[in-house]
Amino acid sequence: MMNKKVLVAFFSRAGENFFPGGTKYIEKGNTHIAAEMIAEICGADLFEIKAKNAYSDVYKECVAQAMQEHGANARPELAEMIDVSDYDVVFLGYPNWCGTMPMPVWTFLEAQNWDGKVICPFCTNEGSGLANSVKDIANLAPAAEQKEGLSIKGSQVQDAKEMIREWIENL
Ligand SMILES: Cc1cc2nc3c(=O)[nH]c(=O)nc-3n(C[C@H](O)[C@H](O)[C@H](O)COP(=O)(O)O)c2cc1C
Repeated sequence: MMNKKVLVAFFSRAGENFFPGGTKYIEKGNTHIAAEMIAEICGADLFEIKAKNAYSDVYKECVAQAMQEHGANARPELAEMIDVSDYDVVFLGYPNWCGTMPMPVWTFLEAQNWDGKVICPFCTNEGSGLANSVKDIANLAPAAEQKEGLSIKGSQVQDAKEMIREWIENL
């Protein structure tokens, strides 16, 4: 990453979330925590991909919203946009929602010019891994070079810093 301009763009949701054995309320989303680790390791800028209309704090309600949006192939409006043309490398972080990225990440990907850019995806989840997100990123940003992504167990993100460091070193 030396001499490269690096951005960490991530979607993450605080609130009640799925955790092994049940649900738990978290003040900061799992992907947000991983994004901060990557930004610190690479000296990168951080950008939070946020929908204009926030998702429910209640896990079950959020799952229903996510499934509805995915089924409708929705493109939720974002609260803020950034232009990635100032960057060489974009670490793209998101939770696995229903087998792929939350739909605001689709909005984000489609809004950019990815010519000559590198996308390094990282996905927090509870077992589904990156799943369909790899092919969805390739379809939404065909001009970008997509590196091998990293899957992180959301409930163990606090312990993931060394794994993240190794992944970045191998990119
Ligand atoms: C709407 C919704 C759908 C989810 N779907 C999946 C899934 O299909 N597979 C999976 O492993 N985890 C799933 N999860 C769990 C999240 O991917 C996991 O808790 C993630 O770390 C949350 O990241 P965040 O705190 O940054 O939002 C889902 C969570 C939510 C809220």
